[in-house]
Amino acid sequence: MIMNLNSTVTLNNGVEMPRLGFGVWQTSNAVATDSVRMAIKHGYKSIDTAKKYGNEPGVGEGLTRGLAENGLKRSDIFLTTKIFIGDQGYQSTLDAFAGQLKSLQTDYVDLVLIHWPVPGKYLDTWRALEKLYRDGKIRAIGVSNFNIIRLKNLLKHCSIKPVLNQMEFNPLEQEADIKAFCDAHDIQMEAWSPLGHGSALTHPVIMGLAEKYDKTPAQIIIRWELQRGIITIPKSTHEEFIASNTKVFDFELADADINAINALDLDKRSGWYGDWQVFGNPNGKPTAVENRD
Ligand SMILES: NC(=O)c1ccc[n+]([C@@H]2O[C@H](COP(=O)([O-])OP(=O)(O)OC[C@H]3O[C@@H](n4cnc5c(N)ncnc54)[C@H](OP(=O)(O)O)[C@@H]3O)[C@@H](O)[C@H]2O)c1
Repeated sequence: MIMNLNSTVTLNNGVEMPRLGFGVWQTSNAVATDSVRMAIKHGYKSIDTAKKYGNEPGVGEGLTRGLAENGLKRSDIFLTTKIFIGDQGYQSTLDAFAGQLKSLQTDYVDLVLIHWPVPGKYLDTWRALEKLYRDGKIRAIGVSNFNIIRLKNLLKHCSIKPVLNQMEFNPLEQEADIKAFCDAHDIQMEAWSPLGHGSALTHPVIMGLAEKYDKTPAQIIIRWELQRGIITIPKSTHEEFIASNTKVFDFELADADINAINALDLDKRSGWYGDWQVFGNPNGKPTAVENRD
């Protein structure tokens, strides 16, 4: 049920994960600390970071301070981080994760994702995550930016299946094939850049629906993602947006409006994210690079 910021999805290992969380990509340590504190103050129960963002120490500080300021305990917040491309491999993942725990000022992480499927290494990285999961250092393990070829390869070789796949997902980029594959295999979809990195906010259809429902464009998109059953982690550094992005539980988009947003999918390969040049864009039609498992 989509009720409030405490509403969760039950992942395939039984762990409950909040449906609406908070992202911190492209924020410095100092800004991440303040953003995370503000997010906790405004009721977010889930924070998404990554070693690649360079702000795990800032997030850890924000988490520690945000919990104390709001009378919360560590288990009240669902924390996600990711294994950096350069750390992939079995022992290197174990070593890197130990450092990430220290940076994040915690002794466990709720969800750890392989940030990107590095060909030839991601199966070893996964084995390391399985060990950390069995050792109780991580409550759930998942992937990000995995296309169907790589998901199939992982499912063939893993002993613990990923709980979710975090993909670029927003009105203009909907990953229909990958979503269908994940649904069929009980792998939850989570949206990164859920607002299109800001670009989907000015689409005329989104702006029209904002007027119709007397909501902001961001609230329309976040609500659409929630009604599509997708975990979403919008990012902002502004308190006004951090707060307003949570006001999505007092209205419901009609089926026709959900369908109107579904129809905005451009099925494109935006390709602006640097790692795609090296490892392939997971979105859309696979190229020779993406076909490598
Ligand atoms: N796994 C991956 O490879 C991957 C890749 C990218 C992102 N992610 C995760 O996904 C999270 C979200 O994605 P994202 O940061 O790319 O972008 P996003 O959440 O789609 O959009 C963030 C942008 O929208 C603006 N914004 C937020 N709320 C707004 C509102 N109510 N009105 C107007 N503008 C608003 C923000 O501005 P201000 O910040 O200026 O307030 C920022 O410029 C990241 O932070 C990260 O945690 C993961």
